Amino acid sequence: MTQRAVPAGDVDYESTGTGYEQQRRSDPRIAQAILSALGDASTVVNVGAGAGSYEPTDRYVLAVEPSAAMRARRRAVGAMPAIDASAQSLPLDDDAVDAALAVLTIHQWGDALVGGLQEMRRVASGPVVILTLDGTQLQDFWLNEYLPARAQIERQRFPDIQSIRKELGGTRDFNPVPIPLDCSDGFVEAFYGRPESLLDPAVRAAQSAWQFLDQTEIDRGLTQLTDDLRSGSWDSRHGHLRETPTYTGPLALIIAAPEDECRPEHDRRTVSDRQTLASHRTWINHNLVVVANPHEQSDQAELDRAWHQPSPVDEPVDDDHPVNPPVP
Ligand SMILES: C[S@@+](CC[C@H](N)C(=O)[O-])C[C@H]1O[C@@H](n2cnc3c(N)ncnc32)[C@H](O)[C@@H]1O
Repeated sequence: MTQRAVPAGDVDYESTGTGYEQQRRSDPRIAQAILSALGDASTVVNVGAGAGSYEPTDRYVLAVEPSAAMRARRRAVGAMPAIDASAQSLPLDDDAVDAALAVLTIHQWGDALVGGLQEMRRVASGPVVILTLDGTQLQDFWLNEYLPARAQIERQRFPDIQSIRKELGGTRDFNPVPIPLDCSDGFVEAFYGRPESLLDPAVRAAQSAWQFLDQTEIDRGLTQLTDDLRSGSWDSRHGHLRETPTYTGPLALIIAAPEDECRPEHDRRTVSDRQTLASHRTWINHNLVVVANPHEQSDQAELDRAWHQPSPVDEPVDDDHPVNPPVP
């Protein structure tokens, strides 16, 4: 296998990421959210595909992965082979696939982020689906009490959701994804209610964040966490998290449809189509306002309501009572 002289992202998986395929397994509930976002796309490119987590098995998936070590891990878990390419230069024609997917990878793309997003948009005729952590929501996590530098470093790595949405254009949906308490994908926040797990070097080896922290600081922070777990201090402050079934905050799914699917004044559409689209946009805009900053919402019920509210695009249009006036 050909190894790159310089890694495509900010982590060198040729020398790190031991045990990634065991520690970072697809979580079925998160996988379901991704599947729903992909809709009826029958061909999908999975960019930054890693060891194959979250790759749908019910449709044709083309995996793209720049790290030779990651591609080798795919073989170990029986995933389909991946093409050696990076996000910023996808070896595909325009509109070659129905959908483009990127799962927990864009924070590693660095300067290639904009080019990578543009490439995903270019090759997909349908939705671009991105699972990531919202950098603006990372500051509240309890681990920051032990490793203050972490929030700052991760904030720089995880792009601003607003800038991603701007770059992708088109109809944009943005949903916080609840992290289950027993999440089987071992990213750092997945252990919000299982603090002891972060003391396990095997768990940390599959989490890229630690590589950006000073080892002395890591040792100090983890010693403090060990002491607090022994003394009960962690539990007195955060113990409720051990019983909290989901953590809704930083994990987010961005779904960007192609630009022309949200043009309400498109000539070829009927008046009813235009009303449906306009009503869909109203729904999206409303929900973006409601969910864009979940931590600023004091009312959890309002967030839950927005999360579960059906899109009116699926509802029949009442021509006698249009949501928006007909377009002349
Ligand atoms: C944290 S892993 C996620 C892998 C997989 N998507 C998953 O959910 O398990 C990040 C992956 O992104 C890949 N990556 C980093 N920079 C990239 C780039 N510029 N283009 C494509 N993939 C990249 C890495 O090689 C790595 O496999």
